[in-house]
Order: sequence, then C-alpha cells, then structure tokens
Amino acid sequence: MKPLYLTTPVRQGLGACLRPGGEALTRRAIELLQPKAGSILVDAGCGAGGGMRILATEGRKVFGLDLDFGLLSESQKENTGPLVQADLARLPLADGSVDAIFCECAWNLTKKNEVLSEFYRVVRPGGALVLSDIYLRCSGGTLVANGWPIRSCFSYATDLATVENMVRAIGFEQVVVEDHIHLFKQTAAEFVFAHGSLHEFWKAVVGDEQLAKRACAAATLTRPSLFLLIAKRSNE
Ligand SMILES: C[S@@+](CC[C@H](N)C(=O)[O-])C[C@H]1O[C@@H](n2cnc3c(N)ncnc32)[C@H](O)[C@@H]1O
Repeated sequence: MKPLYLTTPVRQGLGACLRPGGEALTRRAIELLQPKAGSILVDAGCGAGGGMRILATEGRKVFGLDLDFGLLSESQKENTGPLVQADLARLPLADGSVDAIFCECAWNLTKKNEVLSEFYRVVRPGGALVLSDIYLRCSGGTLVANGWPIRSCFSYATDLATVENMVRAIGFEQVVVEDHIHLFKQTAAEFVFAHGSLHEFWKAVVGDEQLAKRACAAATLTRPSLFLLIAKRSNE
C-alpha cells in the first residue's frame, strides 16, 4: 500500500503541501524564526514543493531534499531552488553549511535519531532546526505503530515530551514548541467535508471497511495533534 501522503484522497485534498497545517504552518515557522534574506535553508523531505515555495521568497536560498523521485519531479515545476534525491539519514551537505533546516511532516517517517544527528551536523553554530510533525496526546512515549493500517506520520509518532527530549539529547538548545491542533482539526474537517465522515475518508484511503475502522480506532486511542518545534545550535 502507498504511504498516506501519496494516496489519491490525500493528494486531492491537500495539493502541493502533503501534510496538515499546509502553508499556514510554514508561514508561522518563518514568522518565529525570521530568516534573513540570503539565508541558506534546507527543506528536508520537501515532497512536492509546497513548503519550499513559501520558504524560497524574500531572498532566501532553499535546497530541497527528498527520497521520492516522483515528488521531486513535481517540486521541480515550482522552480524554487536546487533539488537533490537523498536520504535524510545521510545528508549530502558539509558540516555547518546551512543556516536552518526545515523538516515538515517528514521526520516521523525516518530513522529519527540518525536524522537529528545529521541535522545537527549540517546546521552552522547559531543556526536553527524547524521541525513540524504529528505527535500523540495520549501518554506513554512510543506507541502502537501497528494500530495504523498505513505508513504515515501518525504511525511513528510519539508524545511531545519524547520529541523534545530527543532534540535536546542531540545537542540542540533553546527549544520552543507550539501545538497547532486547530490547523490539524482544520485539515481533518476538510476531509470530512470531502468524504462525509472520517471513517469514509479512511475507507477511501485504505480501500477496506475493517482497515478504516482500525484507523479510526487508532486515532481515538492516540489522539494525534500537530507540533511546531524550533531549536538552535549553540554558537560554540
Ligand atoms: C508527508 S510528506 C511531506 C512533504 C513536504 N515536507 C510537505 O510539506 O509537503 C513526507 C515526505 O518525506 C519524504 N521522506 C520520507 N522518508 C524520507 C527519508 N528517509 N529521506 C528523505 N525524504 C524522506 C517523503 O518522500 C515525502 O516527500
């Protein structure tokens, strides 16, 4: 089965930003970080280029990295900056070479600790990490990945304290976190309007009544939401 972000109901519902929060969350990250004109940014897991389109304005230089060649081809049409096919766990970038890394709803899909180490390595001293992804509001750290019937940012999500601890343990400092459940609910509501209910949305995604029930049950159990985290590498 395709991962959630490549399924037709999600692609039709979300357009070029393959995640909840869409452009509004990228704009909020920019508002908080205030990257200057000329800053070198990386969109790590850039997908179809929806986030990159916003990052690459006001004189900022953006490189997009993603594993998926098809999505990179879509991103290329946006013409927002250089694109490289790469695994986030092995970034083809020199140590301390970028001002900030943006990783929007890609980190949960990766080997998270390896990827955070790579982010830390390539961000310059004083530079920043911007991470947004799904987290689970129920307690308990790592949780029931196998409750979700499809590979997605939900299936590898943890609670927010676990995310923050991982980011700090790698060495990032000044960690600021925001919850964006209102944006998450907005995306869920759009799927309900398009399909009649969340159950019907999941059925359209997974193509099966029982698997759709499992997805709804996993959501009820884990109570997902959306976070935005900004952290700094110290000036050393
Ligand atoms: C939910 S999509 C989000 C895409 C994009 N950030 C956006 O905002 O629309 C997740 C993206 O992460 C990419 N991805 C997943 N694992 C990856 C890895 N190990 N290395 C690079 N990209 C990866 C996928 O190919 C996909 O484009």
